[in-house]
Amino acid sequence: MSVLSLKNVSHAYLGRTILDGIDLDVACGEIVALVGPSGCGKSTLAHIAAGLTEPKSGRITRTYKRHAMVFQDPALMPWATAAGNIDYGLRLAGMGRAARQEYVMAAAAQVALVPDDMEKFPIELSGGMRQRVAIARALAVKPEFIFFDEPFTALDVALRRRMQNLVMDICIDGRLSGLFITHDLYEAARVAHRIAVLDTRGNGVLGMRTMAGTPAQRSDAAIFDWVQTALEQDTAFRHIHDVDERQLA
Ligand SMILES: Nc1ncnc2c1ncn2[C@@H]1O[C@H](COP(=O)(O)OP(=O)(O)O)[C@@H](O)[C@H]1O
Ligand SMILES: [Mg+2]
Repeated sequence: MSVLSLKNVSHAYLGRTILDGIDLDVACGEIVALVGPSGCGKSTLAHIAAGLTEPKSGRITRTYKRHAMVFQDPALMPWATAAGNIDYGLRLAGMGRAARQEYVMAAAAQVALVPDDMEKFPIELSGGMRQRVAIARALAVKPEFIFFDEPFTALDVALRRRMQNLVMDICIDGRLSGLFITHDLYEAARVAHRIAVLDTRGNGVLGMRTMAGTPAQRSDAAIFDWVQTALEQDTAFRHIHDVDERQLA
């Protein structure tokens, strides 16, 4: 059963078609990676799927109760501690103090933040730790679905790998589903059950590839082989490393 379903979704900015005829489903407990070159409309699609942007046309069905989002920029409030940041959404929701504390501690434990970290302000935390806080803030509301929009792009390779492990750990019990946007095919091949490739010129989903096995059990060798073969032989991935110069400063 799918928890998120997009049917024939199209979108345009200022008359320029960005997305056209997008069909995409995410099943319960599944992580679908969405890949495509910079500027092809991945974030726009995530915003449409999450209900933040109204599409020009198409239908979106969500059967999950609550979702959360994690972005490349952790966007923490500088004046609040890690605990305060994680707590923010719960306070907005009007939850009582005792329950909030319990939710915050549970979320922090899921991303391996220790009590010492919880009292620190964002400026005192490393990039990886800040992203952990952002993930904990997302988890604190006990979402059934998480949108990840290139969350680890700014992190170095070793750290990115640890954060990917974290995502696989929190998704392992099959209760959480997600859409994981990345332009790193290795990352997609590591964390996802399926990989959707978005076309550069708004022509929809070029291909949907199902990865063998479950994310956490895939070996590095298998991932490497899969990516090499995809880049060499699968035409869906032909433009994956194209760069849209309009995106560059
Ligand atoms: N609010 C906006 N107004 C006009 N154009 C936009 C807006 N947001 C994004 N775009 C353009 O739409 C295209 C897709 O953007 P985006 O969804 O951010 O791509 P991606 O996340 O794949 O890099 C880009 O060309 C971008 O410049
Ligand atoms: Mg984007």
